[in-house]
Amino acid sequence: MIQIAPSILSADFSRLGDQVRLVEDAGAEVLHIDVMDGHFVPNLTFGPALVQSIRAHSHMRFDIHLMVEEPERFIADFAAAGADHITFHLETSRHAHRVIQQIKEQGMTAGIALNPATPLDGIKYILEDLDMVLLMTVNPGFGGQKFISNVIPKIQVLHQHLEQKKFNCLIEVDGGINQETAPVVAKAGAHILVAGGAVFAQPDPKQAVKKLRQAAGS
Ligand code: DX5
Ligand code: ZN
Repeated sequence: MIQIAPSILSADFSRLGDQVRLVEDAGAEVLHIDVMDGHFVPNLTFGPALVQSIRAHSHMRFDIHLMVEEPERFIADFAAAGADHITFHLETSRHAHRVIQQIKEQGMTAGIALNPATPLDGIKYILEDLDMVLLMTVNPGFGGQKFISNVIPKIQVLHQHLEQKKFNCLIEVDGGINQETAPVVAKAGAHILVAGGAVFAQPDPKQAVKKLRQAAGS
């Protein structure tokens, strides 16, 4: 069963509460929240205060995608704001295993994100401790970019490995997911599909969530 995770990066921030309710009504299981620091990625977005204010409007799982240096500094604040899950980038952490433990100690599930150029090797020995691996299908920083198809074999290899080891870890993909690419990543083995532009930049975001799910074949 594929889960759809609308990314609020492409939402209309002037009526964020309504936009969140819209995708929840459409059956989206997860809300993807992109946190950018202007250092790891060349853009700035939201912090824990925003998460806290939309928490009151939704029962969806809040999936925080930290695109920040020193991610360990922000874990407790996002937990207090109502986050359910935190993903941080392997490229930002010298002590990835410790960060995973810190996220879990705060009662959340933990994920690691890999940029398109980052190989799977760096997570090999911590895979068992992860609830999710986020494979970026664009370079992080902006919505509306083109899907990088070279990542498809990476999804396939990770999927096979997880099946073989019987690890309870989901694969999320993020960037350039739309009706054309959704079936491709689903077939390759992705479980959670993040979509920003393909949901919130559409005239009917509610319908867009349903269409993405159909396109992914679930
Ligand atoms: C990009 C973000 C994505 C972004 C995806 O750095 O991590 O979550 O919102 O946007 P789309 O789906 O428009 O490519
Ligand atoms: Zn993201």
